[in-house]
Amino acid sequence: MTFEGEYNMKLIMLGAPGAGKGTQAQILSEKFGIPSISTGAIIRGAIKNETPTGKLAKGYIDKGELVPDQVVIGIIKERLSEPDCKGGFILDGFPRTIPQAEALYAMGIEIDKVVDIEVDDDQIIKRLSGRRECPVCGATYHIENNPTKDGKTCDKCHAQLVTRKDDNPETIKSRLDVYHSQTEPLIEFYKGKGNLLEIDGGKTLSEATEDILKALSD
Ligand code: AP5
Repeated sequence: MTFEGEYNMKLIMLGAPGAGKGTQAQILSEKFGIPSISTGAIIRGAIKNETPTGKLAKGYIDKGELVPDQVVIGIIKERLSEPDCKGGFILDGFPRTIPQAEALYAMGIEIDKVVDIEVDDDQIIKRLSGRRECPVCGATYHIENNPTKDGKTCDKCHAQLVTRKDDNPETIKSRLDVYHSQTEPLIEFYKGKGNLLEIDGGKTLSEATEDILKALSD
């Protein structure tokens, strides 16, 4: 599969919480040499550093609700103006509402492809319950589907893995409700724009990666 001349792609990863957006975005980022930008990770960083944005966002993220559009749009505007985005980028977790998608257009950003990873809710719950994250580099693993070499520490930076605070049953349920009511309408929105790639995210991690690469090369 070749991607000559396609390395400056502007991609969006769409899908429910736990669908595999972050994992696949990381793989594509390494393959294409373009940054993967996770609004969730930026917000968690702001919370950790107790910035004004972090203080505002904490209540929303802890409850599994969306952070207000204008805050997230501001975060993305700033991030996309950085030099490493000039050669393309992968948006992981943005946009998540129609107003966020419209804001991207208003910024004059032309998205090449929207990769929609589809996974049913039962699988999502299993994936998020078993997810473990590196608190230092942000790498994501799963206790069964994608374990680290020793099962405890990050393969890349050897920090002790942690469970994300919003990966508890109650918050997972509310994140799924929010996804269905506020984010799912983006599927029709991007179908209408003609750049949606629908991927069966219920397959194994490597099969899903293969399907994404194939769809991007078609
Ligand atoms: P965010 O951090 O974006 O979380 P999310 O959308 O809930 O998505 P996740 O990171 O939980 O899942 P993922 O799809 O990346 O799955 P992953 O690859 O880790 O956002 C968190 C919060 O921030 C939001 O709730 C909101 O409050 C706020 N926020 C962020 N963006 C916002 C926005 N634009 N607007 C407003 N608020 C915003 O995979 C999950 C697990 O499954 C892993 O363990 C992985 O190893 C495993 N796995 C992945 N693929 C497979 C596979 N094919 N088979 C088996 N296991 C797999």
